[in-house]
Formats: sequence, structure tokens, C-alpha cells
Amino acid sequence: MATIIAPSLLAADFAHIGKQIASVQEAGAEYLHLDVMDGRFVPNITWGPKIIGDLRKLSPLIFDAHLMIVDPERYADDFRNVGCDRITFHLEATPHAQRLLTHIRDIGAKAGIALCPQTPVSMLQDIIEDCDTVLVMSVNPGFSGQKFIPRAIEKVREARALVDRRNPACLIEVDGGVGADNARELVAAGADALVMGAAVFGAPDPAQELRRVRALIA
Ligand code: DX5
Ligand code: ZN
Repeated sequence: MATIIAPSLLAADFAHIGKQIASVQEAGAEYLHLDVMDGRFVPNITWGPKIIGDLRKLSPLIFDAHLMIVDPERYADDFRNVGCDRITFHLEATPHAQRLLTHIRDIGAKAGIALCPQTPVSMLQDIIEDCDTVLVMSVNPGFSGQKFIPRAIEKVREARALVDRRNPACLIEVDGGVGADNARELVAAGADALVMGAAVFGAPDPAQELRRVRALIA
């Protein structure tokens, strides 16, 4: 399967958001990665369902919501109702991950679980069949433009092994500090989807940079 590229709007310029989305769409991005932050689970605050619903009108791309919020069960339906196709929340944010994964599937979205750098892949042993995505964080969640934590490469390998054995349809996504420098290594380790914020939207020409990374991993 070709690697999925998921530009993260966290690093985009919202004064020109229509243009920014169009540029990555034309360059062949498959997903738009939407980082929802509440100022509690992570120190930063971004946007909620209203903004995502408005963005939905701009693009047919797959909307890949990454909820960095406490009590994600309170908001999953809201994000589904505004058109999120994939909804990923943090294992660290709820004691009832299995219930929420099942609920997200029940409301017609793909269910994802995200792991902070401190959380081992082995924590997924008992819920891996309930996941459509495992999102390996390669920075501490909260901000775009942080330095990649190299241990994430081994975690992608571990996730690959678990998924191959128990739920081969589940995607492995990696998020944080991803770009031309490490894309190949991450794909070789088993990543199916690369989230890229600063690497794409921080480049002078986001479309060109996306195509450059795509060529590197082809
Ligand atoms: C960080 C977010 C990421 C962020 C990645 O908490 O989950 O999706 O946008 O940004 P870069 O690629 O700049 O590290
Ligand atoms: Zn993210």
C-alpha cells in the first residue's frame, strides 16, 4: 500500500486556509490531519467542531481528527457530526478506551488510539482488534515544529509487529517532527501514514515539499 500523507493544519496559515488546503490536496495528500487541543490534556488550544465543520466545506479529503483532549468520550459524536472520517484519541486521556473505540466505529468513523512518547506499544495488547489506527507520537503532543524523538522508530516497528499479527487492516500513523529527513526510515519501520505539519506548511511551497517527500518514499 502506498504511504498516506496527512498534512497537519496546525502548521498552516489560517488567514489563507482555503489556499493552503487546496495546495496539499492538488499535491496528492490523502488526509487532512486536524489537531484538536483543549489546553488541559496538552498545554495548547486549537479548534473545535465549528471550525472543522466549516473546513469540511472546503475539501473532500479524509478528515483525520487527532483529539488531544481530556474526556474524549464527551466529544466524539460532535466531531463525527461535522464530518470527521477518522477519530483518534489518546490512550492516556481515558480509562475506557475500548468503549470509546467501539463507539467511534458504531457512529461510522474509523477509530484510532494515540500513544504519547512515554506510553509503550504493549499497552495496546488488549484493544488492538478494536483499532483502525495506532498513532505513534514522535514528539510530546501540543505543538508543531518540535524535534523528532528517535525512539519512535522502534515503537513503529513494535506497532507493526503487533498489527501484522493481530489486526493487519489497522494503520500505523506517526506524528511529530516528521519530514524529508526521517520519512524513509519511518516507512521502512512500518509506518502507513505520515503526519507532517511544519515540514509541509513551513516550506516556501507546501505542494512542492509534499511531492518531494512522496518521491523520497516511493
Ligand atoms: C502535535 C500534533 C502534530 C503536529 C505535528 O501535537 O499532534 O500533528 O501538527 O507537527 P510537526 O509535523 O510540525 O511536528
Ligand atoms: Zn497530530
